[in-house]
Amino acid sequence: MADHPEGSRPLWGSRLGFILAAAGSAIGLGNIWKFPYVTGENGGGLFVLIYLGCVVLVGLPIMMAEILLGRASRQSPVGAFAAFSRPGSSWPLVGWLGVAAGFVILSYYSVVAGWALHYVLLSLTDHFRHLQPDQMGGIFDTLYGAGDINLFWHLLFMLATVSVVLAGVQGGIEKTCRVMMPALFLIIMLLVGYSVFLPNGGFLKALDFTFTPHLERLSRRSVLEALGHSFFTLSLGMGTMLTYGSYLDRQASLLKVSLQVVLLDTLISLLACLMVYPVMFSFGLAPQAGPGLVFKSLPMLFAQLPGGLLISLAFFVLVVFAALTSAISLLEVVTATVMDRAGWSRRRAALVTGAAIFAFGIPAAYAGDGRLLGAWASMFGMNFFDTMDYLASNWMLPLGGLLIAVFTGWVMPESARRAAFGAPAGQAWLYTGFVFVLRWLAPTLVLLVLLHKIGVLQELGVMGS
Ligand code: PHE
Repeated sequence: MADHPEGSRPLWGSRLGFILAAAGSAIGLGNIWKFPYVTGENGGGLFVLIYLGCVVLVGLPIMMAEILLGRASRQSPVGAFAAFSRPGSSWPLVGWLGVAAGFVILSYYSVVAGWALHYVLLSLTDHFRHLQPDQMGGIFDTLYGAGDINLFWHLLFMLATVSVVLAGVQGGIEKTCRVMMPALFLIIMLLVGYSVFLPNGGFLKALDFTFTPHLERLSRRSVLEALGHSFFTLSLGMGTMLTYGSYLDRQASLLKVSLQVVLLDTLISLLACLMVYPVMFSFGLAPQAGPGLVFKSLPMLFAQLPGGLLISLAFFVLVVFAALTSAISLLEVVTATVMDRAGWSRRRAALVTGAAIFAFGIPAAYAGDGRLLGAWASMFGMNFFDTMDYLASNWMLPLGGLLIAVFTGWVMPESARRAAFGAPAGQAWLYTGFVFVLRWLAPTLVLLVLLHKIGVLQELGVMGS
């Protein structure tokens, strides 16, 4: 096993570097593409509320646990679990579950990033200017059905991801995040600003949809989706934050860095809703457009704006970069594990894992085309792309998160945990509270949601459907 004594493992250039990289991992397509459409499908306000509850009660403590495990072990996930459990124990399997989740997620994530790349090109050719609002949806539907085009962009995006990961922790990941994240924030604020002035009260309707809870709009699946999404959007449950934490210095306050990442991530998700929904409402459309929502709605706005070409171009370029900073964190987990376990060079590990993930993503690129695995949808009730997303976000990540909480709360030796937490003098209560939440609250909540979904609780008569 490759060991990393303190000093030989590369560290972040600065604390801000860690925050930006962790926020860069968290903020991505999950916020801009997925959150608005999943919230739309689940009826808005109440879903947002449940999601926020999951973020605070489950997401934040598990993020702290992951960073703690990484910082304490200075290892990638598999090694971190091995470092704090008995020799021969099966805990390192949790690390492998995370590696598998990263593998699966990146394979279809790259396809979505490919859509954004396609829209960069559409923006450049000023394509939206000549179209009527009702034609915007058609563009996306055509793209979704064109497997070859998706494959092309998928390849390009995977190449970009691999090349950043090849450049290593500081040179590649940190530098890219430093510039791109603030720029993304600015352009989203600009677009929300535009949305306020859209006709037909679009913005007010969007506010109402996003923040007013309606019990009747929630389905049974919603709670699992809210939980799953909180893991997905915060990059939790698969060892991303653990891996990034393994490059973090020992002085940084766990609570503080985690809170900063969680707050930034949540802010961007909510802003994304307030950027997308007003456009839909203003044109009399519903926000239930599915995975195409952001691609169908925003071009309508761009077509009307003065300087629409530039704004549209800037927006999709930044979405690509937001996706890239997340994608590199997904690949980094897989690559770092192979490096640590097999002793491969970064170069070899990144190239081989990147190629394998690309190959696994090919059926996702063809999901709407049907030429590849066309019968999948009729067997599973959803196409290959949706099946992978459902499996990874709603099952693998929450399960991984549950096990991470249990491991850090119950299995990791008290002395190592306390030392890695590093509570400042006079804040011992913080540590006590953290351990309590990790031991009891977070695992119970995740377990309840999973059991409810499996139907066990209904069997026992504990909860209705
Ligand atoms: N958090 C990223 C997003 O919201 C996706 C991601 C999930 C990245 C899991 C790393 C690990 O887009």
